[in-house]
Amino acid sequence: MFKHVDFYAGDPILELVNEFLNDTNPNKVNLGIGIYYDENGQLPVLECVKIAEKRMADPISPRPYLPMDGLPSYKKACQQLLFGKDAPILQENRIATLATIGASGALKVGAEFINAWFPTSKCYVSDPTWVNHIAIFEGSGVEVGSYPYYDKKTVSVKLDAMLSFLNSLNKNDVVLLHPCCHNPTGVDLTPEQWDKVLEVMKNRELIPFMDIAYQGFGESLDEDAYAIRKSVELGLPLFVSNSFSKNLSLYGERIGGLSIICPTEEEAVRVLGQLKLIVRRIYSSPPSHGGHVVDIIMNDDTLYEQWVGEVYAMRDRIKAMRFKLKSVLEAKLPERNFDYLTTQKGMFSFTGLSPEQVERLKTEFGVYLLATSRMCVAGLNIHNVDYVANAMAEVLKD
Ligand code: LMR
Repeated sequence: MFKHVDFYAGDPILELVNEFLNDTNPNKVNLGIGIYYDENGQLPVLECVKIAEKRMADPISPRPYLPMDGLPSYKKACQQLLFGKDAPILQENRIATLATIGASGALKVGAEFINAWFPTSKCYVSDPTWVNHIAIFEGSGVEVGSYPYYDKKTVSVKLDAMLSFLNSLNKNDVVLLHPCCHNPTGVDLTPEQWDKVLEVMKNRELIPFMDIAYQGFGESLDEDAYAIRKSVELGLPLFVSNSFSKNLSLYGERIGGLSIICPTEEEAVRVLGQLKLIVRRIYSSPPSHGGHVVDIIMNDDTLYEQWVGEVYAMRDRIKAMRFKLKSVLEAKLPERNFDYLTTQKGMFSFTGLSPEQVERLKTEFGVYLLATSRMCVAGLNIHNVDYVANAMAEVLKD
């Protein structure tokens, strides 16, 4: 009966996790999936999360269905984080916000909305991008193309090529952008470069869809939202998908949000209605536990401050690992330039290793990177960084 059903080889990122788990090498290091591990290689539970969970456990409250668009205070918290606590836009009631099942859920609901209401729009993603961006939009019936982004030679953005490509797009085409900590390259646009990109977006009447999954891991919670806030300032229509998986270390809770900035309050009501309809047809309402944890932390000044400190501690540890890896590699291979390790931002580094070198790292050393050469720097720690650097130097020297 199911003989005609195609085989699924698995997702390149999630399959690698399984391979890693099955590896018996005692020295193995997982630098594949984008997960932050602490200095002991453990997945942390943030202190602010522990406090919020304790409050939720005493007394344990009933679990009704949440509204289709999530808790109002959670939605407000997403908006404040993305657009700024005192941003005038927050008073204008023209942001349609929805709590979603992670940022993946936000992308899916957003893609379904685009397919339904902008059926002739294409979606353009950066070359390269997170593999699932393409899968999600194509899976929703949206045609996907790519815009020039990463320059392998200079380890920076091909800005001129990107701008001229964007200038060739049609009105209402969607451009998927990473406001900070570009996945997979770690190469971000500077504020000046963002200004140029957004000017083209405005002139060509394109729709920016900003996917922000690493807010706080680049520079700061505010600076990482520069492109989002600048788009608001320029009066662009704007889709934003956001995630609390990484910056609250709440991966499995699947908590995120989708916000669409509309020109008027009346349009925002209609847009939110259609988003709810999409949600109802797929999963009815968002999960409640993670949403409540976020809600407690974001709406309590003390817990919020504590959270900010914890996000920045994660950010700083990743940065320290970048410097450490760079210094060991430079000592071992002085003829090579490893500056890219410390100029890239966030969890990821595009290392430029060939697929063969990545394979050798895995089979000979148990060091797991994605085949594209993406390394999750947040998997490094003081105990494994020398080992990884030695392994990298070994495969790079031949
Ligand atoms: C990643 O890029 O590794 C993360 O965003 C996790 C995922 O779901 O792919």
